[in-house]
Amino acid sequence: MSEPLILGIESSCDETGVGIVRGYELLANEVASSVELHVRFGGVVPEVASRAHLQAIVPTLRRALEKADVSLGEVDAIAVTAGPGLMGALVVGLSAAKALASVANKPLYGLNHLVGHVAVDMLEHGSLPQSCAALLVSGGHSSLLAVNDVTCDISELGATIDDAAGEAYDKVARLLGLPYPGGPVIDKAAQGGNPRAIAFPRGLTAQKDLAKHRFNYSFSGLKTAVSRWVETARLAGDEIEVNDVAASFQEAVCDVLTAKAIDACRYLATDQILLGGGVAANTRLRALLDERAAAAGITVRRPRPGLCTDNGAMIAVLGAEVVKAGLAPSGLEIGANPGLPVTQVVVR
Ligand code: KG4
Ligand code: ZN
Repeated sequence: MSEPLILGIESSCDETGVGIVRGYELLANEVASSVELHVRFGGVVPEVASRAHLQAIVPTLRRALEKADVSLGEVDAIAVTAGPGLMGALVVGLSAAKALASVANKPLYGLNHLVGHVAVDMLEHGSLPQSCAALLVSGGHSSLLAVNDVTCDISELGATIDDAAGEAYDKVARLLGLPYPGGPVIDKAAQGGNPRAIAFPRGLTAQKDLAKHRFNYSFSGLKTAVSRWVETARLAGDEIEVNDVAASFQEAVCDVLTAKAIDACRYLATDQILLGGGVAANTRLRALLDERAAAAGITVRRPRPGLCTDNGAMIAVLGAEVVKAGLAPSGLEIGANPGLPVTQVVVR
């Protein structure tokens, strides 16, 4: 059988994405972002995001089909993010996917956004190993996963017990007076700062926490520590070295993320780790994971930064893998699930 031609739609947050793949070959990846509309609010406004999806979905779809030079009739299946994400945002993409599947008489697969972040690496590096660990870090999630089969067998070793890593970046950027989304700006600011300038706390790494939280993360204490540090410096009339604060904060995040990720590999007895999600675009996270993994004899697989943040190609390639595995389609009756657990790859 030739590789399946899949159209993938993503609309869980503030990016309207349409991707088209043939197996692992990327044919188109069009993304319309509404981020500019959210900047003045310092975070994504769900209602604004939904409206933007509604405006962007048809033009983005047209651009993707044009770029890939395929017609809807040629596509083998439609894949769409069914969760997790913002309800109103998910519904726009899901409704569009249902309409396309219905008029073109194509099978519809409602897929897990988070698993899409794991699957996207296949576009660059081919099929995943038999089993591996995955560090999934996005705006809403931070988890350590055991991935045995990306289409049907994923378990969660641990996750954040409060803020996600990306959320911490966004909140810290805000308190430093930097724009939303905070990840890329802190990443950039940190490059001009000293990561050892301030010793910020490493959440859930103390011996007493490890028994219960070996693979869990916590970033809210770190965010509070940054906030206190900034407040104290302001009250004292000290000039705040934003670059040093950014670098020290980032070092604390990346230190904990990578230390626990390497520990997860040891626990799973795997020598492969996958990095995925918007925060996976972070330069320090990539470098530190590479360094620590190399020292432990572990290979890191990670998509290029442009594929780490939300896009339709990640849903399309996951769809291709699901189709190749022979899994049944979701059907046109499925709903969106804002709280879809990472263990459920295909929604039924
Ligand atoms: O995966 P994603 O695009 O959307 C969600 O599914 O949440 O992740 C968005 C998050 C945001 O919090 C953003 O600040 C963060 O990813 N992010 C980064 C970088 N680029 C995006 N965080 C750190 N460094 C970056 N370079
Ligand atoms: Zn995402």
